[in-house]
Amino acid sequence: MAFLSVPLLAVLSVCCLAVYRFFIYPTFISPLSKIPNAHWTAPFSPLWILWTRYSSRENRVLHAAHLKLGPIVRVAPNEISINDVAGLRTVYAGGFEKGEWYSIFDNYGVPCMFSEWHSRTHSARKRMISNTYSKSNIHNSAALAAQAQAILYGRLLPAVDSADVKGIDVHDLWFATTMDGMTAYQFGLKNGSNFLQDVAYRRHWLDLYQGRKGSTFFTQELPQFLKYCKKIGIKLVPKWVDDANQELEDWTQMLCDNAMAYMKSSAATDKDVANDPVVLNALISGIGKEKKMKGEESVLASTALKYERLSIASEMIDHVAAGHETSGITLTYLSWQLSRDIPLQDKLRAELLGLKPNMLMSNSQPQIPSSKDLDALPLLHAVLMETLRLHAPIPGNEPRITPYPSCTLGGYTVPGGVRVGAQAHSVHRNSEVYPDPETFDYTRWLDDENGYSEEQRKERDRWFWAFSSGGRMCVGSNFAMHGENPLLPQKLS
Ligand code: HEM
Repeated sequence: MAFLSVPLLAVLSVCCLAVYRFFIYPTFISPLSKIPNAHWTAPFSPLWILWTRYSSRENRVLHAAHLKLGPIVRVAPNEISINDVAGLRTVYAGGFEKGEWYSIFDNYGVPCMFSEWHSRTHSARKRMISNTYSKSNIHNSAALAAQAQAILYGRLLPAVDSADVKGIDVHDLWFATTMDGMTAYQFGLKNGSNFLQDVAYRRHWLDLYQGRKGSTFFTQELPQFLKYCKKIGIKLVPKWVDDANQELEDWTQMLCDNAMAYMKSSAATDKDVANDPVVLNALISGIGKEKKMKGEESVLASTALKYERLSIASEMIDHVAAGHETSGITLTYLSWQLSRDIPLQDKLRAELLGLKPNMLMSNSQPQIPSSKDLDALPLLHAVLMETLRLHAPIPGNEPRITPYPSCTLGGYTVPGGVRVGAQAHSVHRNSEVYPDPETFDYTRWLDDENGYSEEQRKERDRWFWAFSSGGRMCVGSNFAMHGENPLLPQKLS
């Protein structure tokens, strides 16, 4: 009898331990157990949030949870969501590291600045290129001014002029415009894309790019499960997604190779400043400097320095993707909002006509005004900010990992190694800061009209999070704001 009870006892002990480890501890004892649960299963199972993500309802569902339960909620045994400025400061300005979730943005099998997990390697990469996207560089870059002039007057307006009278697919057109602007700054005008004129290729490219959208779930949320399934012959990501990724990578590698060949051959004698590959140039010289100064001691020795060609292409394709898509989405929503408000269009047109030069097509040599003058237009700024608030192009979760041994969030102690994230969709819908948050009300950003107190203005600006915050915030925010400023008037003139 006693002999028989030993295995039984062992089984019982394992069951008790499992119940303790996977149910009692996370639900009642873990420091996270004090945080309100977004769903009753959240303390002991990630299935609810996984399903919510799989069915593309995360932004809405987490927003509803925050409205009901407050600025911090638990969404899975080892994951929380935050939605207040103090939390944003702790997590994002506090430099919490990224995790494996971002590995999907490793292109060509090597990391780029965006996908780096750790802040040291991230900073080394950022040093090489951030200057090209600084506000002063954007304002003063002769290459950028020449590129914008060529793209707007040489490509965009002729495309609008020759468009079908029934209407224009603005989503498609804006994506083409932002892609041409982005790649011109990266690779130079002649070696960048020409999506505005090459309609067939842009449609093919955008199909490849957009088509992959529904296939990121397993790679980002269940990478180990994905690998295991692959081992036993089950392919959760279809082959055509791999093929699309390959083609997009080949295309970007070709742009890099062409621009590098140009830099070696004719760049020195080319008088057209628009052909300057500003970002690529900065990255190549940054890598060269890192090699020379630090060599094997560099934190990038085993990545960017070892796989130089692939690392350059990995960084470039990330900017191609991040740059064209976010700005294209913004301009599309902006066009939609303007199309619903004729008086706003009239006011905006009047503001723009006050500029010198005023961009009118009837001018003998139409010219884009200085970016400083465009930046200073209050109504233009207000409609852009309100579009970015209500229709944030990256509205979803931006996960980070809490540091060891622990940190404090929303008054709760949170142990190290916990996934924590915020989403602009919710941050931008705080009704105390943005009254009637679902309404497109550009006057929130017009200080002469809205009657806000100094404190209200400060709060409004503090809660604006379209570009994220801290050391990993958008490196292209100035480029984006600059790029959208001169494009918008074209729609109106
Ligand atoms: C309206 C336009 C844009 C919006 C709303 C936007 C938004 C963002 C956000 C929210 C992040 C942080 C994401 C995260 O941590 O998960 C980010 C990062 C980034 N964005 Fe943008 N972006 C825009 C335009 C651009 C442009 C034009 C570029 C061109 C280079 C760009 C390049 C990047 C890069 C490289 C990062 C990673 C920065 C780092 O890790 O240090 N973005 N962006």
